[in-house]
Amino acid sequence: MEEKRYAVAIDGPSGAGKSTMARRIANDLGFVYVDTGAIYRTVGYYIHLCGIGPRDIHQITRLIDDINITITYPEDGIQHMILNGQDITQEIRTPLMSDYASKISAFPVVRSFLLDMQRDMARRHNVVMDGRDIGTVVLPQADVKIFLTASSEVRAHRRFLELQERGETVTYEKVLADLQQRDTQDSSRAIAPLRAAKDAVTVDSTQLDLEQTVAAIRKIIREKLGL
Ligand code: DC
Repeated sequence: MEEKRYAVAIDGPSGAGKSTMARRIANDLGFVYVDTGAIYRTVGYYIHLCGIGPRDIHQITRLIDDINITITYPEDGIQHMILNGQDITQEIRTPLMSDYASKISAFPVVRSFLLDMQRDMARRHNVVMDGRDIGTVVLPQADVKIFLTASSEVRAHRRFLELQERGETVTYEKVLADLQQRDTQDSSRAIAPLRAAKDAVTVDSTQLDLEQTVAAIRKIIREKLGL
């Protein structure tokens, strides 16, 4: 008999703190953390590398089968993205790649290309998976579904502080505008839009600090999984 695999899905808009939460919870539970945004970013990176714009569906369709993506978890405990043999984990973390990922992820050809990869991870491991459509499309049978959100102003403020800490010169207004544009793109696309699953528990972290958010999510997981 196949061993039972557990899946925790964490969806929500950009900058809600999904990856920080998912990593912490995965660590607690001894599950594998799967950052699905990184997979979309990797596709976007390849398209950009080929000199193709993020809305050029004809070229994207032509190129998609040339993309070979592998996910590895080396000693540093970070999810590494390997694109056609090259580690591009750092390169995908730029505002340009955020925008590419958000735009190319609206195309059905891209979403179906990545669907099996994500489901396969959940077949092979106990996972905490974060993204936009994990609870609704990728893993509709997930044991726990969390929709993590916060006001766009609070999310932009947190992102702004993060970027400042990294030494990047940005204004809060620009960060807020980019984030709102991504929210609109991610929620208004026809296929697998950003949306809370019917059976998801929503955690609004607008008024919560990091530890309070972790505590709220842990409580939901304990109640659902008994862990
Ligand atoms: O989580 P992130 O910011 O790294 O994601 C980048 C983009 O990828 C996001 O704006 C939309 C897309 N994405 C998606 O469409 N579905 C997912 N499950 C994860 C990300």
